[in-house]
Amino acid sequence: MNFLITGGAGFLGAALSNRLLRQGHHVRVLDDLSTGNPDALDPEVHFTRGDINDRPKLWTLLQDIHCVYHLAARVSVQESILFPRDYAKVNVCGTATLMEAARDDR
Ligand SMILES: NC(=O)c1ccc[n+]([C@@H]2O[C@H](COP(=O)([O-])OP(=O)(O)OC[C@H]3O[C@@H](n4cnc5c(N)ncnc54)[C@H](O)[C@@H]3O)[C@@H](O)[C@H]2O)c1
Repeated sequence: MNFLITGGAGFLGAALSNRLLRQGHHVRVLDDLSTGNPDALDPEVHFTRGDINDRPKLWTLLQDIHCVYHLAARVSVQESILFPRDYAKVNVCGTATLMEAARDDR
């Protein structure tokens, strides 16, 4: 299968990406590298640096994808109290952007 993993350079995403690849699947990752580390990914993972709110980029990355794991997120509770709008933009609006892009089915 063809997988898209958002936040795929993060703690969970990198482990999931590498696991799926070892199982013989094709894996694309979208991550803005705000905290992620692309070196944690197997070189055969197709990595794209970008933002979860970039709908045109999502249209491209969603081509021929069978399954999406959405793990792109800001995850610090302390920071979320200091910067609630930034967190809402990524965690709430980013999820909506991904759902819109998947719905558009270009
Ligand atoms: N780690 C856990 O134990 C755990 C447990 C339950 C749920 N979760 C959830 O799983 C998700 C991933 O958690 P994690 O521990 O891997 O966090 P993480 O911070 O390691 O990974 C998140 C990834 O998202 C990327 N990212 C952040 N903002 C982005 C943006 N605007 N566009 C694209 N990419 C962006 C970061 O660069 C990072 O690589 C989160 O929603 C978290 O709440 C994690």
